[in-house]
Amino acid sequence: MNDEFIRQTNNYATLTWLGNPIWQNIADLWVTQEVISALRPSLIIETGTNRGGSSLFYAHLMDLLGHGSVITMDVKKMHNISHPRVTCLIGDSIAQSMVSRVREAAEKVTGHVLVILDSDHSTGHVCKELEAYHSVVTPGSYVLVQDGITDTLPAAAAWRPGPLPAIEAFLAENPSFAIDQALCHTFPISHHPKGWLKKLV
Ligand SMILES: C[S@@+](CC[C@H](N)C(=O)[O-])C[C@H]1O[C@@H](n2cnc3c(N)ncnc32)[C@H](O)[C@@H]1O
Repeated sequence: MNDEFIRQTNNYATLTWLGNPIWQNIADLWVTQEVISALRPSLIIETGTNRGGSSLFYAHLMDLLGHGSVITMDVKKMHNISHPRVTCLIGDSIAQSMVSRVREAAEKVTGHVLVILDSDHSTGHVCKELEAYHSVVTPGSYVLVQDGITDTLPAAAAWRPGPLPAIEAFLAENPSFAIDQALCHTFPISHHPKGWLKKLV
């Protein structure tokens, strides 16, 4: 079933949100919507803006909830999105200047901070993003490590090792985080196996 969705959508690369390209598995987007609705985050930090559809999706949900903002970052600008809740930063997500800037912004908000990692999915990069951003996640909130499917999907073999080894290494070192199995298994298809990491305390 997953293969058919992937084939017909060119691995979800041809989907749009209100006309804006969004590169997300639609079942995963629904789970994210449920998390945002329940958590009402004050800040979502997204690595990997691409053409901006996902950051707009999060911001539009925040419009409906009347609360929150988004910081999204990418090594290059590939969009012309503009939304009062969205701040777009250009640069490497693990550059010290970027990490400092984002951490400062996170420290200023009260309420939940949710982190979504959707940039370079190689193990090394995801390890560094987890190291850089896990400290801003508030207890009860999450870091969503996207696209662990890279490590299991036959067609993604060229991009391995991907996020799954990074998740395993991170959890071994950080017992205050645990996989939220219920979220990860909401639907029988997902691009983010073991991806929802909950900050417990
Ligand atoms: C899968 S796309 C993001 C998709 C987007 N979140 C969406 O749902 O529409 C990955 C993006 O990560 C960016 N990227 C790759 N390496 C990066 C890095 N080191 N820092 C920040 N962004 C990076 C790429 O330029 C690309 O646009």
